[in-house]
Amino acid sequence: MVKLIKADTITLLNLEIMGNMNKKTHFGYREVDEAKKSKYVGDVFTSVAKNYDIMNDAMSFGMHRLWKKILVELAAIGEKDIILDIASGTGDISKLISQEYPSTNIYMSDINYDMLNEGRNRAIDEAFDSNCSFCQLSGENLPFKDRSFDLITVGFGLRNFTDKEKGLSEMRRCLSKKGKLMVLEFSKPINPVFSKIYDWYSFNILPKLGSILANDSESYQYLAESIRMHPDQESLKKIIIESGFNECKFYNLLNGIVAIHIAYND
Ligand SMILES: C[S@@+](CC[C@H](N)C(=O)[O-])C[C@H]1O[C@@H](n2cnc3c(N)ncnc32)[C@H](O)[C@@H]1O
Repeated sequence: MVKLIKADTITLLNLEIMGNMNKKTHFGYREVDEAKKSKYVGDVFTSVAKNYDIMNDAMSFGMHRLWKKILVELAAIGEKDIILDIASGTGDISKLISQEYPSTNIYMSDINYDMLNEGRNRAIDEAFDSNCSFCQLSGENLPFKDRSFDLITVGFGLRNFTDKEKGLSEMRRCLSKKGKLMVLEFSKPINPVFSKIYDWYSFNILPKLGSILANDSESYQYLAESIRMHPDQESLKKIIIESGFNECKFYNLLNGIVAIHIAYND
């Protein structure tokens, strides 16, 4: 296990850029060089970091808070668990865990310094930093020993990864025997009428909200596109199993707009 020097310091652990110049991937609807995707994603989150929490509430009508609460309830956390919150951003999930399970040991981690710094400041201001450490790292290349964590959470982060399969197999490697991975992510609505309304909202309202509240419509256009490019519930389950987990199930929330995948290590 990595020993972090001081609880309120951000430790830079690993930011190895994933991908090579000859392979292509998607950044929203655009096809880009794999090696450039994490820079583009980084620019988006640096741009939204200051307004991230306000925008999250506005876009989801506050529902993201409930989805995160459900994730923590489903996690069945043990009192002394060691937990890695990947793509922790401003720290919503870590905060819920820290407040409900103060004896756990939580590693808040994100590839983006600005997002992680917002999370760290908030943890100190809102007094949930006592059992949290802060590490800047890529979830696609984890700088931890095998079987270090009882629980790994990824909240609305996986769709931004350059190589999801690599990230997932890294998470499996770092989970203890019977450890649990929980992925909270946008997914595919089940009802076709609902799906149409959701598409209209995503491409017409979201970028406008971004423009009005954060003076940034492009980042919220990326959000809508990245959600459409992310695998649906069943496809993600298949990818998770193929990454080496021996069991995976998922729960649909709000007609499948969001899903929680839970996977277990053997
Ligand atoms: C939409 S935010 C989610 C933040 C928080 N988990 C939440 O649910 O509110 C996505 C986060 O994923 C981070 N991220 C993107 N790619 C990543 C990667 N490869 N490794 C770690 N974090 C990543 C971004 O920097 C950003 O903070």
